[in-house]
Amino acid sequence: MISLINITQEAFTLYHDQIMAIEEVSFPSPWKARAFLEETRNPVSHFWALKEGEQILGYICFWMYAGEVHLLNIAVHPERRRQGLGMVLVEKMKQFALSQNAQRIYLEVRPSNLAARRLYLRTRFEEKGRRKRYYTDTGEDAIIMAFECCREVHSGLDEATSTKGLSPVSEPRDGLEHFRTKVHLQFQ
Ligand SMILES: CC(C)(COP(=O)(O)OP(=O)(O)OC[C@H]1O[C@@H](n2cnc3c(N)ncnc32)[C@H](O)[C@@H]1OP(=O)(O)O)[C@@H](O)C(=O)NCCC(=O)NCCS
Repeated sequence: MISLINITQEAFTLYHDQIMAIEEVSFPSPWKARAFLEETRNPVSHFWALKEGEQILGYICFWMYAGEVHLLNIAVHPERRRQGLGMVLVEKMKQFALSQNAQRIYLEVRPSNLAARRLYLRTRFEEKGRRKRYYTDTGEDAIIMAFECCREVHSGLDEATSTKGLSPVSEPRDGLEHFRTKVHLQFQ
């Protein structure tokens, strides 16, 4: 069974080696352990991981602050990629943002990171602009992407009214149920 767990300071100590191994193979400038530890102590930070048995499959870290969610970090174990796990992590973050009445979720992504850009487009983030020379290691710009939570709420309303023929049927939405089916996930 795959479960979503909260990475507290204690959990980070327990899974330190696995999380750091995923981080180091996933990014040109990986976070140091100290950065993860700071997030476990930061009250606006949410740090979750997908775990199967004692194996960490991937993690996500984001801030919920001033009515907005900011995605800071997401990575999936290289041997478990393209199985829907990245989408599960993003959808879980979106569910949380909606439950907290956040206005939007935003993130920065490297133009060269096509896998991540596609993941965000598939989860209905939109490109909003660029931050010039944002990544100091390569001098790359960052693409800013955002997911407008109010649009999701209105889309839900459209679907409700569409049964009465009052508005067009919206496109099918990729929810968690779809990915549970796709990768046979179960959650604790
Ligand atoms: C980006 C990342 C988290 C995606 O995780 P994942 O579990 O492989 O993603 P999913 O399996 O949920 O993929 C969802 C969709 O994203 C797109 N996608 C993911 N990986 C892709 C790739 N290598 N090439 C093209 N599209 C890709 C596809 O549209 C995919 O849907 P599909 O498999 O039905 O075609 C993973 O590649 C990763 O850890 N990368 C290194 C860390 C990183 O770049 N993080 C993002 C920083 S902004």
